[in-house]
Order: sequence, then C-alpha cells, then structure tokens
Amino acid sequence: MSSDKKILPKDFIKMKKKNRKIVMITAYTYYQAKIADEAGVDGILVGDSLGMVIMGYQSTLPVKLSEMLHHLKAVLNAKPKSLVVADMPFLTYEVSIEQAIRNCGKAIKLGADAVKLEGGEEIFDIVKALVKAGIPVMGHIGLNPQRYLTIGGYKLIGKKAVEASKLVNDAKALEEAGVFAIVIENVVADIAKLITEEVSVPTICIGAGPYCDGQILVFHDVVGINPRPPPFAKKYLNAYELMLEAIANYADEVRSGNFPSKDYYRTLSEEELKKVMEALKITSKKT
Ligand code: KIV
Repeated sequence: MSSDKKILPKDFIKMKKKNRKIVMITAYTYYQAKIADEAGVDGILVGDSLGMVIMGYQSTLPVKLSEMLHHLKAVLNAKPKSLVVADMPFLTYEVSIEQAIRNCGKAIKLGADAVKLEGGEEIFDIVKALVKAGIPVMGHIGLNPQRYLTIGGYKLIGKKAVEASKLVNDAKALEEAGVFAIVIENVVADIAKLITEEVSVPTICIGAGPYCDGQILVFHDVVGINPRPPPFAKKYLNAYELMLEAIANYADEVRSGNFPSKDYYRTLSEEELKKVMEALKITSKKT
C-alpha cells in the first residue's frame, strides 16, 4: 500500500490475501500519529495501554472512555492515512449490546475507522451486533490485559492443549462474528501460526511469533521511552536516555547562563531602546 489512499478495514483483508505483512503500532498523541503515519505503518491503535504508558497506572483497568476519546482525537488530528483503531476500555462494551453500540459508536463518530475489543467466544454476540450496526471490529485474544486478574497475571497463553484449542475456537468465533482482524497477544508461536492458517481474517501479533499476518508493538516500547519494555518488544531507539540527556543539558545550560544564547532571542535597536527609556523617563544604569 504505497499510495496516498486512506487504509480501511477491508484493505487489511486484502493484504492477508496478498501475503503482504501488516504493520501496526500504538499512538496516543498528535506527533506520535504523525511519525507513525509518515513512517508508513498500515494501522495505528489508540490502545488502552495509554493507561500505563501515558497515565502511569499499574494496569489498563482504570482507563475511562473519556480518556480514550481524548487521545483518539489527538491521533485523528494528525489525519493519518493509516487505519485508526480505537481500543475500547474495560467495561465499556461487556455490559450489554446496547452499551457496546453506544460506546463504540462514540469512537466511530469521532472519526475512528474501527474499534478493538478484548475477548473470544464470550463476546460473540456483542461483536456480531456491532458489525451489524456498521462498526468494524478488531478482535483481541490470548493475553487480554483487561482480564489479567482472572487470567492470573500477564502470562504466556496457549502452552497447554486445552488453552491452545480454546484460542483457536475463540479466533474462529470472532471470524464468524465478523471481525476484520484479530490481535493475538503473548501466545506460543505455533498456535498463533495455526490460527493464522485457520482463519480468513488477518492476525496481528504481539509477542506471538513471526507467523502471523502482521505485527503490532507499543510506541513507547519501540522507541524506548519505556526503558523496560516487555521481553517480546524490540527497542529500536533509546529515547528515554536521549531525552534524559537532552533535558539535563538544557537544565545545565540555563543554570550556567549558556541558554538562551544570541541565536535564541532578539533585541531592540539602540535607537528604539533609547526612545523607550526616554518615554519611561528611565536613566541608563550603565556606568
Ligand atoms: O492497548 C494496547 O496497546 C494493545 C496492544 C498491546 C495490542 O491492546
């Protein structure tokens, strides 16, 4: 997809058919979205991971819909050509079909191209109703961070046959319900591969190996703003250290008087300054 055409959910399915790897990254702000889009990613997820990387919460559970919509707006202001997916926070879609349609509809009305929900077979009816209402849905199976309390932590999923077959059934249920793509998080690579072969919609992996149709990572992990990313995330830059050094240099220069130097400020001409002094009846303190 090298054209300037806006990427839509149906294009993800075309990419799978053409064996073209799909690249996604999260973004939460205007400049992050601009950078991601200019770098040529196919999709931007305004993830509820913002709870941790933006808000500093210990999990994604406290994230409110209003926080998500606020960051979604910032991302949309960058007018990305990439597909923009809004993550739906914990308990904004599980209560009832009506609640799901109303809340997901808010993200779509704001300009999101799709929404993402965590869960498998258990959200079949909700996904089906959303798709019926005209809301494109991205699924999310494997490690569902919104369910870490019932899962028992942020662990690798699918190591045992029962858990692995549940994953395949979850993926098939989501496909049947009408999702256009499925995120597979922190799952053994063989099962992610099996799911990728078994479903017609693209699989987008995070910590689930190389056999999926695409990959997604969290912005802060890729550029190293988060100094301790999860083990499956590759750090392509040490932004935390670079920013720390830049800000420490700025502080040093302010304290030493080296900033602002001549290049960073303007002065009046001597003649204009003299007029100001005369008008204010101030005599120069210079000796
Ligand atoms: O919120 C998020 O960033 C996510 C990705 C990890 C897929 O759900």
